[in-house]
Amino acid sequence: MLIDTFQRPIKDLRISVTDRCNFRCSYCMPFDEYVWIDREEILTFEEIELLARVFVDLGVERIRLTGGEPLLRKDLHKLISRLSSIDSLKDLCLTTNGAYLAKQAAELKSAGLRRINLSLDTLDHEKFKKIVKRGSLSKVLEGLFMAKSEGFQPIKINAVIERGVNDEEIIPLVEFSMKHGFDIRFIEFMDVGNANKWKSDKMVPKKEILKEIEEKFSFEELGREQGRAPAVDYQLSGTTTRLGVIASVTEPFCSGCTRARLTADGKLVTCLFSEVGENLKMFLRQGASVQEMKDLIKNIWKERNDRYSEKRWEALYSENGYRAEDHKKIEMISLGG
Ligand code: GTP
Ligand code: 5AD
Ligand code: SF4
Ligand code: SF4
Repeated sequence: MLIDTFQRPIKDLRISVTDRCNFRCSYCMPFDEYVWIDREEILTFEEIELLARVFVDLGVERIRLTGGEPLLRKDLHKLISRLSSIDSLKDLCLTTNGAYLAKQAAELKSAGLRRINLSLDTLDHEKFKKIVKRGSLSKVLEGLFMAKSEGFQPIKINAVIERGVNDEEIIPLVEFSMKHGFDIRFIEFMDVGNANKWKSDKMVPKKEILKEIEEKFSFEELGREQGRAPAVDYQLSGTTTRLGVIASVTEPFCSGCTRARLTADGKLVTCLFSEVGENLKMFLRQGASVQEMKDLIKNIWKERNDRYSEKRWEALYSENGYRAEDHKKIEMISLGG
């Protein structure tokens, strides 16, 4: 089995299919304008499938498509068809902002997609505008309900909670999810990328999120899926809704991190907080064989020693503290979370 320097196998692959996004969430893409990756630098569906098959051969069991916003990638359903035909792949999922989901839900479903995670930080139209800056909440909700009627299961809502911005949305989002049979996950605001002006006091810790929910609802801890998922899950009593909290800051989960990331322009990134990636596309386009690609990825994974969130946690309580701006990272738009 392929393992890294901390004995972690490679099990999950997050593929960014485009760096473009139609939203400008304050915690992810705070600027108005971005320089996008040139089209010819973006991996083709053939290249993505070839690499995905190599990763699966090396042990990957789950693939997630992300962006930017993945539904901006033309004919995404054709990529889903290619990937869903990979035999030993156990799970294929999509993380989307939902704006184009109403239009595409049916073709994504027939292409073989089974489940969806959708970002939704508020149910309030004004707050939505403030956080997301473009697009409309109504379109996202339309997409969410279309996905439900197409039979996607589960549908997980992802809400990034930022103090003073949407911390009052926690209970409304739980109630909404219970009413409509969605799962709901709250995510601690993270210092991904270099531009979101993260400060630890803007992050609402897991403990605080759960305390607030506990005052109104009862739930039981289920733990992390496969023992190593980013979210700790809870079952909300008497409902089908699962509650999850992704506490990358206050309860880092690096020790079980089996996730590799592939950027839209073909770089392999071994941590969400990496400064650089390894250019797989260059080797692929220079004519490397499947075996050569496999060896290349193997060697990168064998040397992997990332544990950024654990180190951040240690630094936050050290004498010198932790300053997000001292750490250069790949922008979130190229990694999709
Ligand atoms: P499921 O398989 O449905 O549980 O999905 P997921 O939670 O792994 O993926 P999703 O795209 O929904 O991501 C939810 C949040 O978890 C996002 O904010 C991601 O950035 C964050 N996340 C996912 N993987 C990692 C990771 O390895 N490290 C850190 N720090 N955050 C992660
Ligand atoms: N902190 C936590 N989660 C984030 N996401 C984007 N930026 C951040 C951040 N700074 C989440 C989105 C989406 C997922 C892919 O990553 O909400 O659900
Ligand atoms: Fe928001 Fe997702 Fe777009 Fe980032 S990629 S701006 S989190 S919708
Ligand atoms: Fe994995 Fe890096 Fe996230 Fe830790 S911070 S869980 S090593 S991606």
